[in-house]
Amino acid sequence: MTTSVTAQNGRPVFTIVVLGASGDLAKKKTFPALFGLFLHGHISPTTRIIGYARTKMDRPDYLKRISQYIKNKTTPKVKAALEQFLDQCTYVSGVYDQDSGFQDLEKELQRVEKEIKTYDRLFYMALPPSVFIPVANGLKKNCYTTKGINRLIVEKPFGMDLESSRTLQKALGALYREDEIYRIDHYLGKEMVKNIMILRFTNQIFGSCWDKDHISNVQITFKEKIGTEGRGGYFDEFGIMRDVMQNHLFQILSLIAMETPASLEAEDIRNAKVDVLRAIPEVVESEVLLGQYGKSEDGTMPSYLDDETVPKGSKTATFAAAAFHINNPRWEGVPFVLKCGKALDQQKVEIRIQFKDMGKNLFQKDVAARNELVIRVQPQEAVYLKMTQKLPGLGMETVLSELDLSYASRFTNLSVPDAYENLILDAIMGEQSNFVRSDELDEAWRIFTPVLHKIDRGQVPVEIYPYGSRGPKHLPDFVARFGFERHAQTYSWPETSQTAASNGSPQLGASASADSKL
Ligand code: BG6
Repeated sequence: MTTSVTAQNGRPVFTIVVLGASGDLAKKKTFPALFGLFLHGHISPTTRIIGYARTKMDRPDYLKRISQYIKNKTTPKVKAALEQFLDQCTYVSGVYDQDSGFQDLEKELQRVEKEIKTYDRLFYMALPPSVFIPVANGLKKNCYTTKGINRLIVEKPFGMDLESSRTLQKALGALYREDEIYRIDHYLGKEMVKNIMILRFTNQIFGSCWDKDHISNVQITFKEKIGTEGRGGYFDEFGIMRDVMQNHLFQILSLIAMETPASLEAEDIRNAKVDVLRAIPEVVESEVLLGQYGKSEDGTMPSYLDDETVPKGSKTATFAAAAFHINNPRWEGVPFVLKCGKALDQQKVEIRIQFKDMGKNLFQKDVAARNELVIRVQPQEAVYLKMTQKLPGLGMETVLSELDLSYASRFTNLSVPDAYENLILDAIMGEQSNFVRSDELDEAWRIFTPVLHKIDRGQVPVEIYPYGSRGPKHLPDFVARFGFERHAQTYSWPETSQTAASNGSPQLGASASADSKL
């Protein structure tokens, strides 16, 4: 079935329905992203957006709520566009488990479609998992159009383990075809995650050394400075492994490790991702390190258990590190270490590919440190390659420096789009490669489920670490076990300033942001 009307820019015009329109996700992410697309002309000015939720609200209240997180509202350009955008937004209130509300929604859809003469519908479920199925059901029964396309965007959590995920996928699969379901993992919409395939498959220098002969280990790190801060209810049920590692970090792992897809078609890319996941055995308890944050060392920041939304005495992990092994010819013997945590010393997400030592060489190991390729996902998007150079001067001293592509200085007049903008636009365009296919999800759960069950039963120890620290004290030993080597030299990224020393040769100076290695 083809889309009915196309916008001026050649993009299809959908009527977008945001289910859960009064909730946090909708106001913080979905509506700002929809507005961003509207502002930059990526969706047609005629696109209508209907909100649906249980809360009864009048229109001004609703419009205020959905524009709450839109940035720069007072600048004339944004102000004018926002007025126009809000003109296209309407709201229907109704419950999630009865037909009556969905029948009202259908009436509103038909009213709008009569005006704009287009019949394609994009349903965005910004909803808690408990109502996924009732809502998917209500939509199918009452709001599924036969005049155009239906697409359904769903957000994690996709279950708690392999079994519950399969139950959910089965229920969704009975209602919608796989090509109608868009499972969001918002990390797949991040600029630097989208850059992984381009980096790997357009640059010969990486293509030729992307394997066990050249790479010692791969570290994928997610660090947040804040704790749960009031989100403890949701978080405590899931823990950091389900919240971040099984999905966001695993998506990154599969893009880093997959073989070259047969083409850029969504199914070929997703096939390649599934293939690599199939080569990963279940993670084992002895290769997992868990932590929960306690109070900060100076006592000013609260522990996880101080959060009133966290159940008393909870053993839920707020930090996890785990090692994964890929049993295929490319990666045999190369550990992939994934680490994620809340209430840590830094805010960052990065991929660190550590190459092997040079081997017997003219220079000693301590003057020829290992190369590292770092893909910094956020903040300060960058790709840099750490390498040894001659320290300028009369001697033959070496220095660890980098080839640095920092986006802020290289792409000065381009902005990095928000992940949700990227993904909503993909869904409108029918581009599924950046959405999670059900078999991908299945494989990821297969790998994690046995250890998650042990964790749930309290069989994996959880070490307390101070709020604002680098994580559990056993972390350095843990990463060292999997071959990760910290560079001996003092090194900092992005700038290594050089100051003249008394003997006239330049010396390394400290810079503001340290390239921390764990
Ligand atoms: C969400 C998790 O999926 O991702 C949160 O539920 C986490 O716990 C968030 O904070 C991180 O997303 P981002 O885009 O801020 O890195």
